[in-house]
Amino acid sequence: MTQAEFVVVANRLPVDNAGPGEGEDGWRRSPGGLVTALEPVMKQTDGAWVGWPGQADLDVEPFDFDGTRLIPVALSADEIEKYYEGFSNDTIWPLYHDVIAAPRYRRVWWDAYVRVNRRFAEAAADAVAEGGTVWVQDYQLQLVPKMLREMRPDLTIGYFHHIPFPAYGLYSQLPWRRLVLEGLLGADVIGFQRVADAGNFARAVRRLFRYETRAGRITVPGDDGTAHIALAKAFPISIAAETYIELAKKPEVQARAREIREGLGNPKAILLGVDRLDYTKGIRHRLKAFGELLEDGRVAVDDVTLVQVASPSRERVEAYVQLRDEIELTVARINGDHDTFGHSAIRYLHQGYPREEMVALFLAADVMLVTALRDGMNLVAKEYVATRADNRGVLVLSEFAGAADELGSALKVNPHDIDTLKDTIIQAIEMPEAEQSRRMRSMRKRVIEHDVKAWSASFLSALDEARTAKENRTR
Ligand code: G6P
Repeated sequence: MTQAEFVVVANRLPVDNAGPGEGEDGWRRSPGGLVTALEPVMKQTDGAWVGWPGQADLDVEPFDFDGTRLIPVALSADEIEKYYEGFSNDTIWPLYHDVIAAPRYRRVWWDAYVRVNRRFAEAAADAVAEGGTVWVQDYQLQLVPKMLREMRPDLTIGYFHHIPFPAYGLYSQLPWRRLVLEGLLGADVIGFQRVADAGNFARAVRRLFRYETRAGRITVPGDDGTAHIALAKAFPISIAAETYIELAKKPEVQARAREIREGLGNPKAILLGVDRLDYTKGIRHRLKAFGELLEDGRVAVDDVTLVQVASPSRERVEAYVQLRDEIELTVARINGDHDTFGHSAIRYLHQGYPREEMVALFLAADVMLVTALRDGMNLVAKEYVATRADNRGVLVLSEFAGAADELGSALKVNPHDIDTLKDTIIQAIEMPEAEQSRRMRSMRKRVIEHDVKAWSASFLSALDEARTAKENRTR
C-alpha cells in the first residue's frame, strides 16, 4: 500500500453506507463541515482518512472515494457499546459539557476506549509516509496522539478538539484524567474552539503535571530524557460559507422557502431551532420559553410558529432516550393547549434533512434560536447567518456556545434565564429591519472572512511551524 503524506483520523469516515444500490458502491459523502473543510487539502496532498464506517462489524478494505483514500476501522457491536456509546458519549461528552447530564465512569468502557484508540493509531501509523502529518479529530480519539508519537516519532501530529474542554473542577472527576491529558499532549498542536477551552486545558496540565507552559506552549518531557513542545491554542472552526451563499441564491431554494412559509399558514413570524436531539442544545429551555409566551398571551398561535428540527442522535444512550421522551411530551402538551385547526404552535420534526432543504428553512425563518447550554461552536448559527444575503433575520445566540465569541452582534442570551429568554424572543420578533440589517451585516462579514478554509489553513500552518521547529532542533 502506498503511504500518504497527510492522514486524517476521525471517529467517522467522511462517507455513509447507504446500502446496496444507492450511489457508487453504496457509499455517499456525509454532509459534515469537516469533510468540506478538508476536501481540498485531501486532494492536494493525496491524503488518506482513517475512520469507522458507521455500522457494527462492517469490515471493508481501504478504498478510494472522490480522490481520497478511505481506511475503514471496523468496530464490533460490543466496542460500539463501550467505546462509542459508553466512554465517548456517556462519560466524556457529558463531563466536557459541564455535566449537564451525569457522566458515568465505568472501567470496562475505559478499557474499550484504550483498545479502540490503539486500533485507530495503528491504522494511521500504517497509512502515513515517513515524516508525514497526521491530524486527529475530536474527543473519541484523545489517546491517539501519544500512541502515534510512540509508534512513529518521525511524524508531525495535530489534534483538534471540537467540543468544550471543561474547567479543572469538573475535569478532575475523570478517574483517567492523567492518562487522557498525556494522550492529548502527544500532539505537536492541540486545537480548541475557544480561548477559554485552551486555557482550561493548560490549567489542567499545570495542576496535574506541573509542566512549564508559556503562551500556550507546553514543554512535555518524554520517557527518554528528551522533550517536545505541544502548542495548545484556539482555532475556532467555521463553515463553507460560499456553499451556503450559493445555495441560498438558487431560485428553486428560494421558492422552496416560500413554500415552507405557506405550508405553515404564512405566519407573521417563524422561529426556528435546528439541532441534533441532544441535552446540550437547550431545546427544553427554548420550548419552555415559547410555551410560556403563548400562555401569557404575548404571542398568538396564528401569528408565530416555532419550527423545531431535532435530528436523531445516539439513540441507544439512555440520556438521549429520556430527553426525546421529555421533548416530545412537552411539544404535544404545548400544541394540545394552543393549536387551532389552521395553525400549529410548534412544528416538530425528528428527522435529518439534506443541505438544500436546510438552507430553504433558514431563508424561511425570521428568528433563529440557538439556546445551547454548552456547545463547542454551534455551526448552525454560522450557517443561518451565511444564508441571509438580504441581511434580514435575527439570531438569538446562547452565550455558552463557542460561536458567541465571534458573533458579537447576535442577541445573546443565558438560556437558563427563562424570563430574559422570553423577552429576547419578543425583541427578536419585533426588531426593526434597520437593526436586523446592521447586526446581520457584521456577523456575515465575520463568517465569510473566517470560513472553514481559513480555519484549516491556520491550523495546518501552525502544524507546519511545529514541524520546522522540530527539524531545526534535531539539526
Ligand atoms: C459533535 C461531535 C462530532 C460528532 C457529531 C455527531 O459535533 O463533535 O465528533 O461526529 O457531534 O455525533 P455522532 O455521535 O453521530 O458522530
